[in-house]
Amino acid sequence: MAAKADSILVTEGVSIRFGGLLALAGISLVMRPATITAIIGPNGAGKTTLFNCITGFYRPTEGRIIFRPDGRDVVLNRLPIHKIAQLGVARTYQNIRLFGQMSVLENLLVAQHHFVNHRLISGIFQTRSFRKSEAEAVEQAWFWLEFMGMEQLANQDAGTLPYGQQRRLEVARAMASRPRLICLDEPAAGLNLQESEELNQLILKLREEHGVSVLLIEHHMGVVMSISDHVVVLDHGEVISDGTTEQVQQDERVIKAYLGEEDAEELQSVTKGAG
Ligand SMILES: Nc1ncnc2c1ncn2[C@@H]1O[C@H](COP(=O)(O)OP(=O)(O)O)[C@@H](O)[C@H]1O
Ligand SMILES: [Mg+2]
Repeated sequence: MAAKADSILVTEGVSIRFGGLLALAGISLVMRPATITAIIGPNGAGKTTLFNCITGFYRPTEGRIIFRPDGRDVVLNRLPIHKIAQLGVARTYQNIRLFGQMSVLENLLVAQHHFVNHRLISGIFQTRSFRKSEAEAVEQAWFWLEFMGMEQLANQDAGTLPYGQQRRLEVARAMASRPRLICLDEPAAGLNLQESEELNQLILKLREEHGVSVLLIEHHMGVVMSISDHVVVLDHGEVISDGTTEQVQQDERVIKAYLGEEDAEELQSVTKGAG
């Protein structure tokens, strides 16, 4: 399939049923490497459910999810969560899930557990490879703290951070696991305008400096339109539009079928580069 050749993630007819509810009804999408793809749609459209399928929290009833970190196909459907993480898929949560009673630095170390040599025996004897991977994990943690401008908070309990800092720490934690694909579930939710703008710049920098592919669920149209390369619109578990920001903004189906009038005005008023 030509469309698949230059891709990092492909979903083919992904469906999931919860009892009587078909939460995802055949989602097919192709995501290009090192791009920012936004998933938008009203509450209950299935956005988080799609993330849960990609990251292994849910098993699709039908369809395939193909991750292509190095040009070879890896079908994610049947893999456990930790295996998917190891392959290079990281995520953040719509509702922040940090370890509140652990320090900021510890949160970043825990995120890397699958890289640290955990074999009990090497831990006991403090083998060279154990110490090396531990040192690397600490280095990674500091790198991402600096990237987020949070070094001075390293020893503070994560639960005591202001909300905006917790959101940033979640992104840092996901990046510390060295992903190729990062799935951000409404990272700007609850942020004020300035915090949200700063987060945008960080997301752009992630892509530019680290080549990571970003799958972004986002509510704020301004954010979506200013930083996305590609937008996929979901409604009732289906893709109702898929294209560039301009294409999606002009799509009658998006304007009429799913957005309320107020949202539709907002959708059309924001242009790339603004907001
Ligand atoms: N574990 C689950 N059990 C039953 N229904 C679920 C489950 N997870 C999600 N849903 C339902 O699937 C639909 C899509 O939810 P969700 O993916 O959270 O929407 P969005 O993130 O787009 O707001 C909703 O109707 C939700 O209630
Ligand atoms: Mg959601």
